[in-house]
Amino acid sequence: MYDKIVVILCFIGIGFADYLSLDGNDWNAITIKVGAKVPGSIYSDLRRAQVLKQDLLYEKNDVNYRWVAYDNWTYERTFTVDSKLLNKKNINLLANGIDTISSVYINDQLIGKTDNQFVRYVWDVKKVLKSGQNTIRLAFQSAPLYAKQKSEEFKQKYKYAVLPECAAYNGECHFNFIRKMAASFSWDWGPAFPTQGIWKPIGIEAFDSLEIRDITIETIPDPKNASQWTLTVNAFLESAPKQKINGILDIKLDNNVLINKQKQTIETDGQGKAKMMIVIFITDIQIITWYPNGVSDNTQKLYQLNVQIDVNKEVSTQTKKIAFLCEGIELGPNQCPDGRHHSRVLETRLRIS
Ligand SMILES: *[C@@H]1O[C@H](CO)[C@@H](O)[C@H](O)[C@H]1NC(C)=O
Ligand SMILES: *[C@@H]1O[C@H](CO)[C@@H](O)[C@H](O)[C@H]1NC(C)=O
Repeated sequence: MYDKIVVILCFIGIGFADYLSLDGNDWNAITIKVGAKVPGSIYSDLRRAQVLKQDLLYEKNDVNYRWVAYDNWTYERTFTVDSKLLNKKNINLLANGIDTISSVYINDQLIGKTDNQFVRYVWDVKKVLKSGQNTIRLAFQSAPLYAKQKSEEFKQKYKYAVLPECAAYNGECHFNFIRKMAASFSWDWGPAFPTQGIWKPIGIEAFDSLEIRDITIETIPDPKNASQWTLTVNAFLESAPKQKINGILDIKLDNNVLINKQKQTIETDGQGKAKMMIVIFITDIQIITWYPNGVSDNTQKLYQLNVQIDVNKEVSTQTKKIAFLCEGIELGPNQCPDGRHHSRVLETRLRIS
């Protein structure tokens, strides 16, 4: 039989003062030990290692390979930390997507647990990391077995079952007891692949001042004048609790400067969070409105909106693609998932349509 499997993590590199990506091929997945790729999932790793011999979507391989979902897999890798990173005031493990039930260890110390595929987890790891070689391990639990156990606990307590109990087509049961992509348990059609793994980038971020964790942008046209827009930018900032930080803010829309070196004082709350709202009136830029393909001038113009904060030369930045939608158009998701093995779906296939 096989040894235990270990999988490996990678770190992402978007907009952090100091960032050590744990993404890549240096992971191991354990129950059976195979090399693993992060972001990814256990089915993709076992397939790549030829433990799963046939294409995952061939005939009834979702059923044949279901044993994978009933096991608990562990992902593990080593990584090297230098003193430059270690000397930063704030050091976090930033996990953008973990699928789904896991316990996370660094150097054998438990730093957190996860039970939701859809959220980002951030853990302070300054005290756990050491200079030189470190180990990270995520011990996952079978998603269908976890869901089954939760449903049994519920039934005992409340004396009724939550319906539907099982997905129709050769699927798994109790998807309503786990915060995980429901289609991975199947539905009225389609295969069931209840994945485990690290499905989005993961890494160590280190900074002295602050990070822009996220930005949201709202574009509103002036009803009286189509060439005037109001842009509301919300920046969600993270730092140590109860800080007062002086920074310099820059905002760009493609190459157009919207905010130029504006001084800002940011005060974080007891959780180390702060929100900044910036309202910008656009009057002097010729904005190209977004229309669906085949409508109007057939333009689907997307802009890059970049927010940057500089605190004593430590720069944090976030960029998002945005569209200026013509009035009356609303976009909403109404599609089948692009694939059961979401980490395999190429970004180029994910377009607004
Ligand atoms: C998986 O983990 C659960 C929870 O710890 C445990 O009850 C179960 O026996 C484990 N399954 C296997 C195959 O090791
Ligand atoms: C609409 O806004 C543009 C840009 O500010 C301005 O040049 C133009 O005169 C305005 N048109 C009207 C009808 O107010």
